[in-house]
Amino acid sequence: MEYTTLGSTGMTVSRICLGCMSFGTGREWMLDPDESADLIDRAIDLGINFFDTANVYSTGESEEILGDALDGYDRDAQVIATKVFAEMDSDNPNASGLSRKAIEQELAASLDRLGVDTIDLYQTHRWDDDTPIEETLRALDDAVRRGQVRYIGTSSMWAHQFAEALHTSDELGLERFATMQNHYNVLYREEEREMLPLCEKEDVGVVPWSPLARGVATRPHEEIDATTRGQTDQYLAQMSYLQGGGEAINERVQELADEKGVSMAQISLAWLLHKEWVDAPIVGTTSVDHLEDAVEALEIDLSRSDQEYLEEPYEPLPVAGHE
Ligand SMILES: NC(=O)c1ccc[n+]([C@@H]2O[C@H](COP(=O)([O-])OP(=O)(O)OC[C@H]3O[C@@H](n4cnc5c(N)ncnc54)[C@H](OP(=O)(O)O)[C@@H]3O)[C@@H](O)[C@H]2O)c1
Repeated sequence: MEYTTLGSTGMTVSRICLGCMSFGTGREWMLDPDESADLIDRAIDLGINFFDTANVYSTGESEEILGDALDGYDRDAQVIATKVFAEMDSDNPNASGLSRKAIEQELAASLDRLGVDTIDLYQTHRWDDDTPIEETLRALDDAVRRGQVRYIGTSSMWAHQFAEALHTSDELGLERFATMQNHYNVLYREEEREMLPLCEKEDVGVVPWSPLARGVATRPHEEIDATTRGQTDQYLAQMSYLQGGGEAINERVQELADEKGVSMAQISLAWLLHKEWVDAPIVGTTSVDHLEDAVEALEIDLSRSDQEYLEEPYEPLPVAGHE
């Protein structure tokens, strides 16, 4: 395993983060607690110490499963990231968003489900138009001062919003967002326009979500429906991965994979891992074999011309992942 310090923090994370959105119930492709624990055990064997979940994943079940699975391990050796924002209770309007009330209540619930006193990285899941950013940042800063959170991070938004948040923290002397969890992969590169250069300039750690384009960057485009998730993932339909130059990129990923005798997933991940602004892609697999395959991608050397070959057909796509 390779490790890196996350953004400008001194906290060390594995360069592969295990995504925990697939733990729980609600979708046919999700893993039950025992299956999830097997995957987490193997991840730790492989040297992964970085786990990403959210309060909203299977409405708290993913956090519970992760907390239980890590129970037998040295908790101090693991880095747990979770998130707050999305609706947790349709009857309670204060169980969503980024108000002080929502953050304090949801943070207490996440700590409880994860079975920890402190969350290593607490991320806001989206921008909240209904709460002033000052209120959100003060509530997060207080959580850090109380020792409930070590670092704060955030996720998909417009670059101007992120710039405003960083500026507000600096102006008010509050904890700053140390990480950006955004939508970025070989088939979706809109973040290269504004967000990624901003993260680089501000020394913000980048942990891309859906680094394998929800599976589309792991198999030939004619076979996207070959898996249960490929058939049923409702968000997949909202992504435009195969529009523009997408099919050609998918074919080039396959061509390079064949040439190098590795999997398409490995080429797609290697492409991301070669990007200097990427700290650790958050891989979302439900298979031990695929997890092992993902970790091996760290060993693949892609030349500059390989990277350019993969990038050349890309055409601008509609923004996907936030509004
Ligand atoms: N912040 C946000 O708004 C946000 C949004 C989405 C996701 N996330 C985070 O990002 C994580 C990953 O998201 P994701 O699941 O959409 O990402 P992904 O890693 O791009 O896609 C997962 C899909 O790729 C397949 N796959 C993974 N590794 C593979 C391999 N080595 N070979 C072949 N197929 C492989 C998986 O199939 P198998 O299961 O069969 O391996 C699964 O269908 C989530 O768990 C979550 O933590 C965050």
